[in-house]
Amino acid sequence: MSPDKSLIIAPSLLAADFGDLAGAAAAAEEGGAQWLHLDVMDGHFVPNITFGPLVVEALRRRTRLFLDVHLMIAPPEPHLEAFARAGADRLTVHWEATPHVHRALQRITELGIRAGIAVNPGTPWQVVEPVLADVDLVLVMTVNPGFGGQRLIPACLEKVAALRRFCRERGLSPWIQVDGGIDLTTAPQAVRAGADVLVAGTAVYGAADPAAQVRALRQAAAAAVR
Ligand code: DX5
Ligand code: ZN
Repeated sequence: MSPDKSLIIAPSLLAADFGDLAGAAAAAEEGGAQWLHLDVMDGHFVPNITFGPLVVEALRRRTRLFLDVHLMIAPPEPHLEAFARAGADRLTVHWEATPHVHRALQRITELGIRAGIAVNPGTPWQVVEPVLADVDLVLVMTVNPGFGGQRLIPACLEKVAALRRFCRERGLSPWIQVDGGIDLTTAPQAVRAGADVLVAGTAVYGAADPAAQVRALRQAAAAAVR
């Protein structure tokens, strides 16, 4: 499924009930989310462990949403094919997770899906410059990866703004995704900085009505650029 080029809300299942992931995906869809953000953690690159290709495959069978898979695993290379076969629509790898990030991104593209590059809060955005032509998305982490429910680090939005300026000057328009601490207050800030994909875990699934929260996030974000 090809996502339209506008503002994307990508609920992260990390904050959902893991006993009912399909139900959580359905709520995201009902709220008008276009992508589902899947956080894969290995207990090595990040302290937490979540799930692997089997869960991605199970979700693929239960939702029509675009599966945006955020790999927080090191090294990512041995697992790319399994996640692609499981039905991921994009694989985003961390710049910090491999010395051969260019090769990893090429491999993802060869597998026939979209490739994204992620940078941690402590990593300068400029590291993505050599691979900008090889990705359709740059994920600027707005918290240190590993856990949901953290507060957005404001300096990360300055990175978003600088990256967006750089891309405009070069005539490039990758998706710029923010992930971590996105809620009704920070979503408009992120969009003003230049983000066009908002990942939200706790803000969506911590709420009593996740579908309504997706709609509220979109409204808050859209109002910021009107
Ligand atoms: C953090 C993950 C995020 C997480 C965000 O390592 O990459 O996708 O789900 O959670 P919130 O929205 O709760 O900060
Ligand atoms: Zn994520």
